[in-house]
Amino acid sequence: MPDTQQTAKVALIGLGTVGQGVARLLLEQSERITRQAGRKIELIKAVVKHLDKPRDFSLPSSLLTDDLECVVQDPDISIVVELMGGIDPAGTIVNRLLESGKDIVTANKALLAEQGMALCDTARKRGCSIAFEAAVAGGIPIVANISQCLSANQITSIRAILNGTCNHILTEMESRNVDYASALREAQELGYAEADPTFDIDGTDTVQKLAILTQLAFGTRVHWREIPYQGIEKIDLEDLHFARQLGFRIKLLATAQLLGRELELHVAPTLVRIGSPLAEVHGARNAVDVAGDAVGSVFYEGYGAGQMPTASAVVADVIDTVVGRAALTFETLEPWKLLSHAPLVRDPAAAESCYYLRLRVEDRPSVLAEIAGVLGKKAISIASVIQPPTASENNGSVPLIIMTHQTTAGAIQEATETIAALPCLLSRGVCLPVLDGEPQV
Ligand code: HSE
Repeated sequence: MPDTQQTAKVALIGLGTVGQGVARLLLEQSERITRQAGRKIELIKAVVKHLDKPRDFSLPSSLLTDDLECVVQDPDISIVVELMGGIDPAGTIVNRLLESGKDIVTANKALLAEQGMALCDTARKRGCSIAFEAAVAGGIPIVANISQCLSANQITSIRAILNGTCNHILTEMESRNVDYASALREAQELGYAEADPTFDIDGTDTVQKLAILTQLAFGTRVHWREIPYQGIEKIDLEDLHFARQLGFRIKLLATAQLLGRELELHVAPTLVRIGSPLAEVHGARNAVDVAGDAVGSVFYEGYGAGQMPTASAVVADVIDTVVGRAALTFETLEPWKLLSHAPLVRDPAAAESCYYLRLRVEDRPSVLAEIAGVLGKKAISIASVIQPPTASENNGSVPLIIMTHQTTAGAIQEATETIAALPCLLSRGVCLPVLDGEPQV
């Protein structure tokens, strides 16, 4: 149990966008934080790579150090906030800090998704805790909600927008006709993107967060690489326009759906019906739609990326650690424990959905029939087709948009492979699932 009299001494590792936000909160809101924690929390060190790097929020120079050892070796520091990101050297450093008895607060989903099990083992052995609210959906308290507030439920599904950068890009492209590269640059300038934004846009960040939520909600341990995922790199402005014409928006959606004893998991840009709550989540906001057998459906929305929303989650974890709540949760939850009754991951090929296909094809007779023939052979039924009127400068090619009725991921994959080999196919375009895609009556 924490000594309720003593000041809790905290160190930060990493002073990037989120690190500076955490330092700002700890230093400028000390009175409020002390009130919440019941004792003083003091930031006494911030470990950085470059001491002289210009920063928007300047810390007293006595706090800055480039020497990790002065944190590891200081017995007065009881909590370390790891915000350096990435797996190496963060994993080695967190392991050393746990070995030396420090409680950890981290926003590092990549590290948890890769080494969560091993780090939690070390923490348990050393009587320490790891708190990671900020690792998933930034400012939305989804880790606490799934693991504590909804613990009376069997969670039956999670549908979530978990990457602020992608949601910002898709929103800007759709609402302002901004091209992909400019929208990404903007997301980087606003501090939403990872150091390497490839992890945001190729779906890695989202699938790592889904792997963490899956472990918490279902007890199923799955490596993020085993979950099928795709990012938003191939989405064109024309996809967003065609989707809107059909009554949908495109969102990078993470899905976990319990079907009997099996769990369907995937991440994909998905057509979501305009007007439904997930379709109306804009900019860097994230959303998580969780269904439980007792509570029904609960919808959480808030900023999933950015300096202060993420810092809000990190500092709440620091307070929880000081109060002793993080240790209790960590002990009872054992977040990376293998549960024998956990559902098994379903064969991804069996996932059922309607699909949106955008192809670029030769503008000549019988092309539609050839493509429909391939879909027909796979028992895929076409729901609607859009072929925009051809312009004279189109060089004999046209986009062809096909919406299918419900089929399986396996069948649509095989069909699109076969279509890709047809001579009439000029470029492959995209194949995206449609959430609740059957026409509404
Ligand atoms: N880069 C992430 C995002 C924030 O854009 O959502 C941290 O997870």
